[in-house]
Amino acid sequence: MFAANQLSVVAALAAVTVLFLQWLLFSNNNSKSSNKQNEEFWSRLDTVGIPSGGIIRRARGLIGSLTSMAQNTHEGYNKFCKGQNRPFALPTMWTGKAVVVLPPSQLHLVNRPESELTGFWALIENIQLPYFIPDRDVIENVIHFEVSRKDLTRRNVDRQAAPTAEEVDLAFRELWGDSKTAGEWKMVNGWDMCGAVIARVALRTLVGSPMCRNETLLELTRKFADSLFGAAAVINCTPPFLRPAIGPLLALPAKFYGARCRRIIIPLVKERIRLWQQHQNKDPKQKHGGADENDTELPNDFLQWLIPRCAGHGPEHMDPSKIAMRFLALNTMFVFAMSYVFSSTVIDLCASPDRDEFLSGMEEECRRVLADYHGDGQGGLANKEAVDRLYRVDSAIRESMRVSDVGVVTLPRDVVGDKPLDLGGGVVVPPGTRLVYPTQSIHLDRDYHDDPLRFDAFRFSRPMEKTEQHNDAPGREKARELMVTLTPGFLAFGYGKRACPGRWFVAQTLKQALAYLVMNYEVGLAGPVPKRKTLLNMMIPPTGVKLRFRRKGDEQEK
Ligand code: HEM
Ligand SMILES: *[C@@H]1O[C@H](CO)[C@@H](O)[C@H](O)[C@H]1NC(C)=O
Ligand SMILES: *[C@@H]1O[C@H](CO)[C@@H](O)[C@H](O)[C@H]1NC(C)=O
Repeated sequence: MFAANQLSVVAALAAVTVLFLQWLLFSNNNSKSSNKQNEEFWSRLDTVGIPSGGIIRRARGLIGSLTSMAQNTHEGYNKFCKGQNRPFALPTMWTGKAVVVLPPSQLHLVNRPESELTGFWALIENIQLPYFIPDRDVIENVIHFEVSRKDLTRRNVDRQAAPTAEEVDLAFRELWGDSKTAGEWKMVNGWDMCGAVIARVALRTLVGSPMCRNETLLELTRKFADSLFGAAAVINCTPPFLRPAIGPLLALPAKFYGARCRRIIIPLVKERIRLWQQHQNKDPKQKHGGADENDTELPNDFLQWLIPRCAGHGPEHMDPSKIAMRFLALNTMFVFAMSYVFSSTVIDLCASPDRDEFLSGMEEECRRVLADYHGDGQGGLANKEAVDRLYRVDSAIRESMRVSDVGVVTLPRDVVGDKPLDLGGGVVVPPGTRLVYPTQSIHLDRDYHDDPLRFDAFRFSRPMEKTEQHNDAPGREKARELMVTLTPGFLAFGYGKRACPGRWFVAQTLKQALAYLVMNYEVGLAGPVPKRKTLLNMMIPPTGVKLRFRRKGDEQEK
């Protein structure tokens, strides 16, 4: 992923730099000084990354923000957030001006109602979705949010354990090699190889089998995501006033792949609508479809849950092409995020000086825990209770999400309505301002984590294992920090009442995949791991890292 697009990003950056200078001069002349409140606010706020003074210096700062956002944010965090507890302004091309970075003491604001602070537009603008998915309604209508919140319930996540375990096994055997190839080392691109497994496993929960194994669909969704993220990165580096002009052009390849994906998925959508209608006629009590009912007939996957939700919003939402579009939007976001986390975890583990200790420690845990669940006829990893007990595996993924996070600043919130937002201490934020949290700086702050720059895979599981051994030891209660636990020091799934509702599913599925990997393969680096780079707010994923691995002997399986 991504690598193919990096060249085009660089080329576009050069062009954009020139255009941007013109824009800055232009917009400065035009800026209406009517908005006094706004000007006063920005001028009173501390700023990082942009020297005060002339336009050229300011422009240089903004262009610099394309690649130095991480550095600028850390600087501001240390200078203003820590100690002084003050927000600061971070200039960025994302909004074309600046965003306000809040100190951790303002984390409670994420719980403000949507009518005051909304994260919706920032989320969409992050990947510039409207250029790729032409249907405004699909973008704005939050039916698939509703499905994530209401149908991806604890019980349905539990029920996914068996199918995803099966898919993990099949995908690894097919893609990484089975016992026939045991003992043969292979060299591969780590990002692609980890991502390919996750794409299939995630697709199993989205559309079920056998569609999750359809090579054409897998290939096309990958190409769609690649071209979307590449183009979105370029659009985000472009001055906002130019975006409507170049956005649609840059979006063409993604739209082409998107249309082909939809063509494959539409017949399946029609079939699922038919199943649902048939089911409704049979038993009118089960109006809400397969999600929370005792239902063995309807497939238990995202696509099937989506259909009654769409029907609930009105007949116009039952258009199969529209539902297919929703599937595509969903698939792109979640497969990318899950692949990012899984690939990063595997690479962080392999790149650690303590790799052998971590890998064998996890393998030991997996064999010990799964042995307890062997008798249930499902195979250990298909058992959700077994997966829940894999604390080391859980910790390794959480730790990778901490040190190898996707964004420099996250949890964006726009001040909406016409009331300004009083942050206290004399800072009053005018409407139209975007607020963000310095997630990466927090994740790497020694006040939250000892030895914060070290990837310590068992950082979070060590205290939990101690608690298990000395159940009655006093003061050990607070030690439980699982992958899904939200704390001020770990914001990778968000914080507060709008935190990610998909995180239990993510945790269960990624743990299954990592557990399978450490039990069945020896794995290591086959090349250097370059230092991670920033493009705007995004940490560019390690797409070039080479891994070597081989299947362990069959006698060790299961
Ligand atoms: C590794 C994978 C994932 C990561 C890192 C992740 C991260 C996040 C974060 C940080 C937020 C909060 C955004 C904010 O407060 O501004 C969020 C929200 C959300 N996530 Fe996830 N997510 C992942 C996977 C998923 C999956 C698989 C689903 C659904 C199947 C999902 C569904 C959602 C939804 C619906 C929201 C919006 C919640 C709301 O606004 O009420 N996520 N996610
Ligand atoms: C994928 O699914 C489509 C649509 O159902 C079908 O026509 C095609 O043959 C499938 N391709 C593969 C490789 O399974
Ligand atoms: C669902 O299944 C459970 C356990 O199998 C049973 O006790 C319950 O009565 C069932 N509910 C319905 C609505 O059939």
